[in-house]
Amino acid sequence: MGNAHPLSRVAPAAALDVAALRAQFPVLQQSIHGHALAYLDNAATTHMPVAVLQAMRRFEECDRANIHRGVHTLSQRATDDFEAARATVKRFIGAGPAHEVVFTSGTTESLNTIAQGLWAGGPKTAWLRPDDEIIVSGLEHHANLIPWQHAAQATGAQLRVLRPDREGRLHVADLQRLLSACTRVFAVTAGANATGERPAYEEMLQLASEAGALTVLDAAQAASHAVPDLSRLACDFMAFSGHKMYGPMGTGVLAGRRAALERLHPLRLGGDMVEWVRYDSAAWAELPARLEGGTPNVGGAVGLAAAADFIDQVGRAAIDAHVHALRAQAVAGLAAIEGLTVLAPHATSSALVSFVATDVHPHDIGTLLDERGIAVRTGHHCAQPLIDHLGRGPTTRASFALYNTAEEVDRLVAAVAHALKVLR
Ligand SMILES: Cc1ncc(COP(=O)(O)O)c(C=O)c1O
Repeated sequence: MGNAHPLSRVAPAAALDVAALRAQFPVLQQSIHGHALAYLDNAATTHMPVAVLQAMRRFEECDRANIHRGVHTLSQRATDDFEAARATVKRFIGAGPAHEVVFTSGTTESLNTIAQGLWAGGPKTAWLRPDDEIIVSGLEHHANLIPWQHAAQATGAQLRVLRPDREGRLHVADLQRLLSACTRVFAVTAGANATGERPAYEEMLQLASEAGALTVLDAAQAASHAVPDLSRLACDFMAFSGHKMYGPMGTGVLAGRRAALERLHPLRLGGDMVEWVRYDSAAWAELPARLEGGTPNVGGAVGLAAAADFIDQVGRAAIDAHVHALRAQAVAGLAAIEGLTVLAPHATSSALVSFVATDVHPHDIGTLLDERGIAVRTGHHCAQPLIDHLGRGPTTRASFALYNTAEEVDRLVAAVAHALKVLR
């Protein structure tokens, strides 16, 4: 077992005091086109509470300096802040002594660091070789697909896709059929951003790991309400972003088993990631510095850690229950509208709802919702192969956070019904 945060595993699913929580988010206290803002685009980016803004401001005003290289007081304080942020993130995700946390600019950078790191060091050290196989789930955001396409092209490995069924579900039995002695990597999401599907990733990671593959979990959509617990997973690499969990933009995490992270050829070569350097060669520093070349976003790491603490103070179970309830309410309301289809209605542990309406383009729905102060996302959600596979075209997506209310969901449903009347 890892050193789990005491608050994180035992929080009861008590109802949230949403009004009090909402008051902590300055950006939500505004009107859009004369309507109170109903921000339902949280799968793209969540907002930051005052606690996170203050933590970042305190760093910038009191401790800001470059880390690791200075003997002066500010540099030491900044280094302490950065390492304290790392310790907080480790607790947040259940990292144990065999794990490490690397700060990145977001899920995209984390996933690229993994996929490129497995071959960019050259054929002698590459984990991926010609005729090896990479299995990627068919639910993935482009950030967990394109880096694997690139890795396959660069190494001669084969890319296999674990295809979802017509409803967008992944099946463990399909993975079992795909896994073989050639499988070197298995990559899957903890929650599909385009549909809300929540695959049985725990079982899938376990099977892939037993087959000898390195396992990759994209936790971008889970970190805000159902953060995976590394101590319980057969997971070599996990990636998520600060801005989707009430933290700052341009921050993220690459976490995983030290032994797996040590296999990665660093993506960013330069200062702070070396043990020694000569004119013709260099040796990498130990983890995590090895994968954190250049000046990191220290204030961002401080903010990300403050966001993790904020989530745990509110209570993960309570947040999870709240967003599920909003999602269930939205699914029930939207599904009752004629000519409207909810994708993956069965995905009850999701925080988002994605839907299509016959003869109406989602961009038009999104524009009319915005006129009523309701922010949703429309399109392919950077998951074009999945959207194509489901065959229903681009979608409208509403996604929920701890500060959203049942009243906002009612407004969403009424506004969608109104938009369809106008547009048809
Ligand atoms: C499941 C998933 N993976 C990866 C990403 C990419 O995250 P970022 O843009 O923060 O790097 C997103 C963003 O929407 C996502 O939803």
